[in-house]
Order: sequence, then C-alpha cells, then structure tokens
Amino acid sequence: MRHFIALTDYSSAELIAMLELALQLKKERNEGGNKPLFAGKVLAMVFQKPSLRTRVSFDMAMRHLGGDALYLSPAEIGLGKRESIADVSRVLSGYVDAVMARVFEHEHILELAEYSSVPVINGLSDFNHPCQAMADMLTILESFNKLKDLRMTFIGDGNNVAVSLAFACAKLGMHFTIASPEGYDLPQAVIKEAEDLAAATGIKIQQTRDPIAAVEGADVIYTDTWTSMGQEDEAQKRREVFAPYQVNERVVELATKYVIVMHCLPAHRGEEITDEVADGPHSVLFQQAENRLHAQKAILVKLLSS
Ligand code: CP
Ligand code: NVA
Repeated sequence: MRHFIALTDYSSAELIAMLELALQLKKERNEGGNKPLFAGKVLAMVFQKPSLRTRVSFDMAMRHLGGDALYLSPAEIGLGKRESIADVSRVLSGYVDAVMARVFEHEHILELAEYSSVPVINGLSDFNHPCQAMADMLTILESFNKLKDLRMTFIGDGNNVAVSLAFACAKLGMHFTIASPEGYDLPQAVIKEAEDLAAATGIKIQQTRDPIAAVEGADVIYTDTWTSMGQEDEAQKRREVFAPYQVNERVVELATKYVIVMHCLPAHRGEEITDEVADGPHSVLFQQAENRLHAQKAILVKLLSS
C-alpha cells in the first residue's frame, strides 16, 4: 500500500506514468466517460482548512470513476482536538477505502498515514501541496508537449505550493528559479534536496531576490497568494513585503513570447497577480484548475489499484 504525501516518495518514472494516465483519463472522460474502476469504493475527505478545487475535484474524480466521496468538515472531526489523529485514522480505515486530508501541520498528515491501513493523500499541508504540482505538470505538458529542460520561474512566497513545484521540477527535469523576498525563501532543506535530485536530471535550482531577472527566458511563470491559509494575521505586513513581487504585464513581457502564467488559485487579484495577466492570453489558470480533476484521478487509480 502506498500513500501520496510528497512527490519525493515517488520516482520520476512513476510520476511520468501518473501524468500519462491522467492524460488518458482526461481523454476518456471527454469522449464519453470513465470506466467505473472505483465501484463500491469511498474516499473520505478530511478538511482543516477551506477549499474549492481540492474538495470538488476529488469528489468528482471519485464519482466519475463510479465511487463516492465523503466530505468531513473541520468542525466535524476536530482532528487532534476532539479525538487524537491516530484514533481518527484507525477509525476511518475501517470504513473507507482511502483518505484525503488537508491539514495545517505537515506532521499531522504524516501521523494520519502512519496509523492508516488505507492510502492517505495529502490535499495540502503547511509544508507542501503535491496534488497541485501534479495538476500543474499536466498543464505544462499539455502546453509544451514536454517537460524536460523547460524553465519555471516562481515569483512570491517559498510556501507549500513552491515546495512541491521545486520537487516536481527537480524530478521531471525542469529548471526552477524562485524569486522571493528575504525571510520568505524556500526552506534550506528543500533547496538541498531539490538540488540533489536535480543532479540526476541535470537541471538548475536557483534562488534570487530579483523577480525581473528571474523571468528572463522563463517558459512558465508561477505565483501564489502572498498570505496562505492560517497566516491571515500577517496579511498587511505581507502585502508590503511582497509588493515588488507582483506578476503583472510588465513582468510577463520579459519572459519568452510563448510563456504560460500559472496560479494554483484562489487568486488575490490586484495583489500577487493582476486581472490583465490572470485573464490575459498567457494565462492557463482555469485549465490548471480543471486538471486537478484529471491528475487526482490518476493518483487515486495508482493508490487504489496497488
Ligand atoms: N488550489 C487549491 O488547492 O485550491 P483550494 O484551496 O480551493 O482547494
Ligand atoms: N499557499 C496557499 C495555497 C492554497 C491552495 C495556502 O496554503 O493557502
């Protein structure tokens, strides 16, 4: 049995196979529907934070494949408050076929996995967001028909989304540059691990303070909110610190002509991204959001059939 907690738990070949499966499931869906591979199977979805994409895409992924999903709200389970995480995990294991959880502390998803006898999927923690990165790689693959040797520039916070993208790029052979203000870098351990992985794929992992220099030659520009869920108290300070890191038309013009602009959403329009860019010709934001559905179907198939 496998869990899906971090991209680093999977080999490059496994990640590529999942992306190929996602493309196939997307085509199948668009040509009439998926096969009921998950008939009788149920996914429990545990949320400690709000969600639109993660909740709906996992729910629909299960339904399209003939299964079902249960939404468990933050108030309902009280993960680690009403009941210990280990107990929640062991109880859920007796009822459902897989668990997807969105948590604050990464330790909590690790603990859920440790005590679970069914596969556990990380639907975002404060450390990473691997399902998002899989949908993003699928989107890039559709845009460029390859991943290898492309250049991604992430502008903004070295947060959960950036962590998974750095690993995805390192594993799949894309150059990754992050431009972030001082104090908001990717964790050093992540840089080190991504660099070690990059040695095998021959790409560069780079960090800079300069968003303008960072976008030169970029095939993909990626940004995310300046204030992640749980950091709301810091919103004002973050708006000031991140002001020079906005993805606007001036920044996009400095990249390659065919650059795609990505954002995991939800977007704070007028902050990390302008309306002109989010709705402009380079934006793939909504293709990216749709691809959560297809990428996660592939993840579910991998976990539920192994
Ligand atoms: N991108 C993403 O995970 O969106 P939600 O927070 O709406 O699930
Ligand atoms: N970094 C954001 C991503 C939301 C999908 C957050 O954690 O709130």
